Amino acid sequence: MRVLAIETSCDETAIAIVDGQELPRGGTSFRVLGNALLSQIEIHKPYGGVFPALAKREHAKNLVPILEAALEEAELLRGDTRALAPETRAALAQLLEREPGLSEKLFEFVSECETPDIDAIAVTAGPGLEPALWVGVSFAKALALVWNKPLVGVNHMEGHILAGLAKEPPNGSVNTSPFSTRFNLVISGVEMPVLALLISGGHTELVLMRSWLQYEFVGQTRDDAVGEAFDKVARMLELPYPGGPEISKLAEELRSSAGRRRLGTVSEGAEDQRHEENPFVLPRPMIHDNSCDFSFAGLKTAVLNVLKQREGVSACDRQLIAREFEDAVADVLWTKTARALDQTGASTLVIGGGVSANIHIKRVFRAAVAREYPHVDLRIPSATLTTDNAVMIGFAGYCRALRKDFAGPATLVASGNQSLA
Ligand code: KG4
Ligand code: ZN
Repeated sequence: MRVLAIETSCDETAIAIVDGQELPRGGTSFRVLGNALLSQIEIHKPYGGVFPALAKREHAKNLVPILEAALEEAELLRGDTRALAPETRAALAQLLEREPGLSEKLFEFVSECETPDIDAIAVTAGPGLEPALWVGVSFAKALALVWNKPLVGVNHMEGHILAGLAKEPPNGSVNTSPFSTRFNLVISGVEMPVLALLISGGHTELVLMRSWLQYEFVGQTRDDAVGEAFDKVARMLELPYPGGPEISKLAEELRSSAGRRRLGTVSEGAEDQRHEENPFVLPRPMIHDNSCDFSFAGLKTAVLNVLKQREGVSACDRQLIAREFEDAVADVLWTKTARALDQTGASTLVIGGGVSANIHIKRVFRAAVAREYPHVDLRIPSATLTTDNAVMIGFAGYCRALRKDFAGPATLVASGNQSLA
């Protein structure tokens, strides 16, 4: 079954075409036929975060070219000329009335191509920035109408979980050319229950899946999401948005130079000694609390207090704070996840969401699982599927379509705080 998937929940406009197939011994194999993504990071950078009205405008501007690119890559774009019936035109215009400019582009596009050979259209319905979500949802409804395809509303966090569970097939990825973004993945051999640690710009939660696609919350943040804390601390350190990768870069530089010093390949100076001492010890909020909940607001404030005590920060201070912040985050994330593994007896642990791109967090989790929970199957998404993308929405859309979880065009709504359970 071929699913065309649309993602516009935040600052990535993405469309993928994913072909799913059930495997004879259980599990699903996915062929990603087309995968087009446009990141708005550079546009939001001057604002130090995502500006919702701007995100909405950019999605509306870019959806049609992204759709064209994804279909073209999937070799599903065939030229045709068709006159849209006046009723269809009117219905499309009504569906897209809140997205100025998008309906004209879509009219033009759909009147110049054949209906592509796809079986369903999936779209992120939430959670995310509501104005941004609506652009994708309205666009998906319009395509479903004009191409007469069933519609599936996808929870973005379910997409992150499935992207984390997906693995390369045993015979490796089958790329047709070195420049192709086409690839194959499988979701198979998943032992229940699955514990998912979802860490992104808007979420920090531990979710349990006892049976396939049924969720219960085990823990969640009581204030800021971990990605939000990365972004805010980065801003305090005068680093650009998004802050996660910037903090990670600084912390890793320091860890690798400390490693070289330990190996004696670089000499020790006064600066190096300061690095070893680390005057910036940060708290590990709620680490001793018996719940599996998190809190990151205090950690962010602790960084602010450290900075207030100094007049300006040196490059060396920045590295030290970045490393200590990452260490504190990784300590808390792992301690709470270990508690949740004990409480739930989960057999599989999956990490998902943008923050799971963090090298240090991945390293801490791999080492701790190998040491303390060797029987647990740890799954971490591949680099390309870690931050927001439409492939993961395609995985979720396929699984939902298989269960006939279709949405009616009138009932599908974008919901900024849609929850998994
Ligand atoms: O899942 P995602 O792409 O979007 C949301 O659904 O929120 O996550 C974005 C978040 C941002 O806060 C960003 O700073 C963070 O993921 N992030 C990272 C890294 N790469 C992205 N945080 C820490 N380390 C990284 N390498
Ligand atoms: Zn996300």
